[in-house]
Amino acid sequence: MTLPGLLPELEVIRKDFPILERTLAGGFPLVYLDSANTSQKPQVVIDTMVDHLERHNANIARAMHQLGAESTEAFEDARDKVASFLNAASRNEVVFTKNATEALNLLARTIELGPGDNVVITEMEHHSNIVSWQLACERSGAELRWFGITDDGHLDLTNADQLVDEHTKVVAFTWVSNMLGTINPVVDLVVRARAHGALSVIDASQAAPQLPVDVQEVGCDFLVFTGHKVCGPTGIGVLWGREALLNELPPFHGGGEMIETVTMARSTYAKAPHRFEAGTPPIVEAVGLGAAVDYLAHIGLDAVHAHEQAVTAYALEGLQTVPGLTVLGPLTASERGGAIAFELEEVHPHDIAQVLDSRGIAVRAGHHCAKPAHARFGVQASTRMSSYLYTTPAEIDALVEGLHHTRSYFKVG
Ligand code: ALA
Repeated sequence: MTLPGLLPELEVIRKDFPILERTLAGGFPLVYLDSANTSQKPQVVIDTMVDHLERHNANIARAMHQLGAESTEAFEDARDKVASFLNAASRNEVVFTKNATEALNLLARTIELGPGDNVVITEMEHHSNIVSWQLACERSGAELRWFGITDDGHLDLTNADQLVDEHTKVVAFTWVSNMLGTINPVVDLVVRARAHGALSVIDASQAAPQLPVDVQEVGCDFLVFTGHKVCGPTGIGVLWGREALLNELPPFHGGGEMIETVTMARSTYAKAPHRFEAGTPPIVEAVGLGAAVDYLAHIGLDAVHAHEQAVTAYALEGLQTVPGLTVLGPLTASERGGAIAFELEEVHPHDIAQVLDSRGIAVRAGHHCAKPAHARFGVQASTRMSSYLYTTPAEIDALVEGLHHTRSYFKVG
């Protein structure tokens, strides 16, 4: 079956992902619908990482030998690829971190806050963009505020003028919610923050895999994402920040390579990005991330986005045929990303995930590290399917059929 917007080369793209050929227990082909949790990896990423380890492995920026030079070049080349992926004004704006969580914690630790200041977040954040700012506010005496969520899963901006004021230092928000799927009006939020002299911080962990991200067009001050959701490996994340702002922040971790000089009494620090990359970084992971963003750029993020929208619309339609199923978040595909969380009357999300798993279908069940967003809708947990550029309509059909089967298995209705 084909749908308008699907990637025309879908079958060719699927062949790039060796794991998609797997058959699971019971002879069921893998139906991987957990890409918002972690994406699968194309062969080119796997091969690039293996080649690096087999032929070029050495520490970077420290080794005075050929392998050291090759490894350093591969690592810095990955930075160039990420800079181009984000349309950054300079490669110095790309800081490699362990993941998006570490990038958010870096900001929450280093942006100066004090009593009388406030930080504005949203109720639909992943815990990493909540707890890091809670800790920062507890340390500094600043106040934490947040935008609520409307009944249809959008940000409630009705009290925006009260929340963001002249004492706001940071407005931190997700571009695409990992639980509700909502695509937020990032440019409006950035403009609002700037109008009050506040810094804008965007969590693009769910956006970077599926939308074109152009930091210059969005106009934000900082943006983070993680490697493993954009077809790259785990253990590598990105903090992008305006160069001048990064150079104004104090260091996060102290150690090798982040310094300019060190004496026993005091040290001075390197400029960004090395200022924030203390110690031996995740080298092969960065190299893998470089290959991953190149892979996505080659397919084109506009085409990936169109594919996600087509699959999401088809999935929303299919899910509505399951009696007792309620989708959390917007019901229109164009307002959301490829993660769809739902409840099924009388069946616990863990049970749903288990029955689906017994048919080879991988979904996520639980609170998805978004407890406040679940609480807003009066639920503890949900089941979540999440698609990606390799998802087919037939896989959505398998999910919908699996959910009908789940209802009869638990004798619901
Ligand atoms: N890995 C987390 C998720 O599944 C962030 O949404």
